[in-house]
Amino acid sequence: MPLQSPQTGLLTCGDAQIFCETFGRGRPLLFIHGFPLNGQMWHAAALRLADRWRCIVPDLRGMGRSPATPSASIAEHAQDLAAVLDRLGQVGPVVVVGLSMGGIVAFEFFRRYRARVAGLVLTCTRANAESAEGIARREALAESVLQRGSPAAADVMIDAAFAPGAPMPLRVYWYQAMCGCAPLGVAAASRALATRADSYPTLATINVPTLVVAGDSDSITPPDTLREIQRGIAGASLVTIAGAGHLPPLERPDEYAAALRAFLSGFWE
Ligand code: MLT
Repeated sequence: MPLQSPQTGLLTCGDAQIFCETFGRGRPLLFIHGFPLNGQMWHAAALRLADRWRCIVPDLRGMGRSPATPSASIAEHAQDLAAVLDRLGQVGPVVVVGLSMGGIVAFEFFRRYRARVAGLVLTCTRANAESAEGIARREALAESVLQRGSPAAADVMIDAAFAPGAPMPLRVYWYQAMCGCAPLGVAAASRALATRADSYPTLATINVPTLVVAGDSDSITPPDTLREIQRGIAGASLVTIAGAGHLPPLERPDEYAAALRAFLSGFWE
């Protein structure tokens, strides 16, 4: 795997500034990270795929190096990503790879920009709208992050995010990354997850090649959740990564990249 430095930049996308990295050349893959993370969570996978594909890795508004705005709905994230592709001159379709909140944004991106989607990789995500109890929990988390800072979210997420055997340095690194997120961005993302649309009706409309990926030790979106998504999408396949929790691209990058390579090699070379 040749190490390469990414092309990076801050792109103006409507009212947002979106930090974006790209690795490699070839047909494009758009990677959408989870909550409360940033595009760096894709580096290990993108570096493994950059020999054949152009990996486009943005930070969603308010996360990573993209400055926060007071609101950041799932719809706004999808619009930002379309603008990112425009700014990069990526007029043709892309394969959209989303993890968790990134998968929720991928569903919205598909609904809005169907012609721009050549395929989907839905990793450790969910299709349901939030429950009343979940809305209250996410609103409370947003309030607590605004009062105490992003460690309030990191404390809730960190143990659930990784499989029990995940290496301590990986946990420590990502705990610190979560703590370093802008509180305004984390609160807005928590509220975006609370108000997300029901994507179950979308599943039957998905008519592009789709890979669904689960982590066998994921306690946030357990394998059954992903199996249900796979069953709802005609022709979708499911790969379950052994020894991974909610973050297979970080926990098992070789296996995760191999699953994407096998999937993409069928239609996107
Ligand atoms: C994520 O990884 O994006 C979050 O776990 C989403 C969620 O809490 O549902």
